[in-house]
Amino acid sequence: MPADPCGLDDDERLAQALLEPGPHGYFAGGAGDERTLRANAEAWGAHELLPRVLVDVSEVTTATTVLGTPVGMPVLVAPVAIQKMAHPDGEAGMARAAAAAGTIMTLSTIATATPGEVALGAPADAPRWFQVYVLSDRGVTHALVEEAVEHGYTALVLTVDAPRAGRRERDLRTRFGVPPGIDMPAVTAATGATAGVTPAEFFSLMDTSLTWEHLEAFIADSPLPVLLKGVHHPDDARKAVQRGAAGIVVSNHGGRQLDNVPATANLLGPVVEAVDGAVEVLVDGGIRRGTDVCAALALGARAVLVGRPALWGLTVGGEAGARRVLELLQAEIELAMTLLGCASVADVTADRLA
Ligand SMILES: Cc1cc2nc3c(=O)[nH]c(=O)nc-3n(C[C@H](O)[C@H](O)[C@H](O)COP(=O)(O)O)c2cc1C
Repeated sequence: MPADPCGLDDDERLAQALLEPGPHGYFAGGAGDERTLRANAEAWGAHELLPRVLVDVSEVTTATTVLGTPVGMPVLVAPVAIQKMAHPDGEAGMARAAAAAGTIMTLSTIATATPGEVALGAPADAPRWFQVYVLSDRGVTHALVEEAVEHGYTALVLTVDAPRAGRRERDLRTRFGVPPGIDMPAVTAATGATAGVTPAEFFSLMDTSLTWEHLEAFIADSPLPVLLKGVHHPDDARKAVQRGAAGIVVSNHGGRQLDNVPATANLLGPVVEAVDGAVEVLVDGGIRRGTDVCAALALGARAVLVGRPALWGLTVGGEAGARRVLELLQAEIELAMTLLGCASVADVTADRLA
């Protein structure tokens, strides 16, 4: 066991030792045989990097913008449910960590704090996005979006790859249910209680009848730009752009939904090509190294999101742990860019891939 974590995988090992088997399996696990979960992390490595030499790298910056918002690095915090089960600092601690690391935190609908609590628990001027699951109880969804708007969130991330929970066998084996004392306000609003609730039960709140027509109406009514998360197929990316999406998040939900779908490293290129610069394309799944981030940028992503790595940092050290993980990733990106011969994020282009 490493005493001082020096790579993101070290935090994963430390977090595993701290968590009960049920919560650990829920956080770490994927669907089915976890082929996609493993493939996500492995596939970034298959995109080999090709440095250019004798480039002035005396000043390298990882700063960029995402949907016009300045960020210190092309890494955002992905929406991850039930963060107080990792550490009492929960989502507000994660929001403070993201703000300190100069980036955007995306709050999940299935959070253990309300959009307002998270906004009030973190610096007022820090940018935050809110992830939307459209629930059958539209009143709950509307109320959450209104609260996010009122508290200054700047974009909505509509997740569309989870009409039901994937078959997560780790949860079945541990008989995972949300521990007593961990409240998920959206689930409580829709059902009245959360203790003992299983993932299958909270996913049963989703509106499984959503179609492209609903998306179009949702975007037309939205006071904030809407990114579509969970896009796999290039045609779906095109359709989203035609219906007004402000951005695409190429994601397979960290391998937690349909197993045996391609790794996101392999889905990204075709989606970037289909979108053809009309909107920004983000990607998540298996990003564990600065070199993975560089591969994603070179394949055309504007930025990446990390789910589990930030969560493991939160588990190990609360807000400070999540911040340390994000800063470690930023330092790795800066080093990888320097060795690639890229002084700015815009320099990390397709010609840096072998
Ligand atoms: C424990 C856990 C909970 C998650 N909860 C949500 C969620 O509530 N909403 C959502 O859109 N995605 C959710 N995701 C997916 C993440 O947003 C993201 O797509 C995924 O974690 C990226 O893969 P990575 O963990 O390998 O970085 C969750 C992922 C994990 C690991």
